[in-house]
Amino acid sequence: MTTYLITGANRGIGLALARSLLSQGRRVIGTARDPSGAGDLAAGGAEVMPLDVADESSALALARSIGERPIDVLINNAGVYNDHAGLEATDLGRFMDCMRVNVAGPIAVTLALLPALGRGERRLVVNISSVMGSIERTTSGGSYGYRASKAALNMVTRTLAVDLATRRIAAVAIHPGWVETDMGGPGAHLRPAEAGAHLARTIERLTPADSGRFVDYTGAALPW
Ligand SMILES: NC(=O)c1ccc[n+]([C@@H]2O[C@H](COP(=O)([O-])OP(=O)(O)OC[C@H]3O[C@@H](n4cnc5c(N)ncnc54)[C@H](OP(=O)(O)O)[C@@H]3O)[C@@H](O)[C@H]2O)c1
Repeated sequence: MTTYLITGANRGIGLALARSLLSQGRRVIGTARDPSGAGDLAAGGAEVMPLDVADESSALALARSIGERPIDVLINNAGVYNDHAGLEATDLGRFMDCMRVNVAGPIAVTLALLPALGRGERRLVVNISSVMGSIERTTSGGSYGYRASKAALNMVTRTLAVDLATRRIAAVAIHPGWVETDMGGPGAHLRPAEAGAHLARTIERLTPADSGRFVDYTGAALPW
């Protein structure tokens, strides 16, 4: 049975994606910073494990808990968007928090889980990015930390695709759409359940030939 590991799966897009995959009979390990607050995830049938992606030792502890089990698909979903401010109000502490969680986090988790990914059949890393990280698509200002972190995550994805090719592990960046979560807010285009279903379908269709691509939740190519 295909095993997915989703970071930040206790709420929002991660939870919706976990539910969609579980409904299709997939095995899901969902991580949460606080597993005691991940009742919805556990109730859906996921195995819940603790993980703070901003803490390298937490990623290593997760890998130890996985042990010799294979992970087919790693979905680096956990993220923060903490800087809606404009240029003058940019807070460099928040900027660095964005980089730590949204960029360093996926690198640390991917590195820690490389042996488990190597034991999997699918051998796929999905980084949940954002169109806000698309340099070509950027026409409005502000949100320096979030935009820069997602642009950097796109570069991380492309570089992982190169570095992991010899291990036959693919890496793909996906924009999940504008989704009505705590992060997306009200008025977003997609309900979480819709986004989860779209993402599950698109991720299931990815092949090794997609490695190094930046796509949206339908699988359509996005400009870097
Ligand atoms: N919603 C949108 O419209 C949208 C659009 C484009 C891209 N995205 C991306 O989609 C992903 C999920 O977003 P969302 O809308 O579901 O956000 P959300 O509702 O705010 O949920 C964020 C998730 O990330 C977790 N998280 C935050 N910091 C973490 C850390 N240090 N370690 C582990 N987990 C951490 C949160 O856990 P806690 O509950 O412990 O805080 C929560 O589970 C993010 O990468 C986001 O950038 C979202």
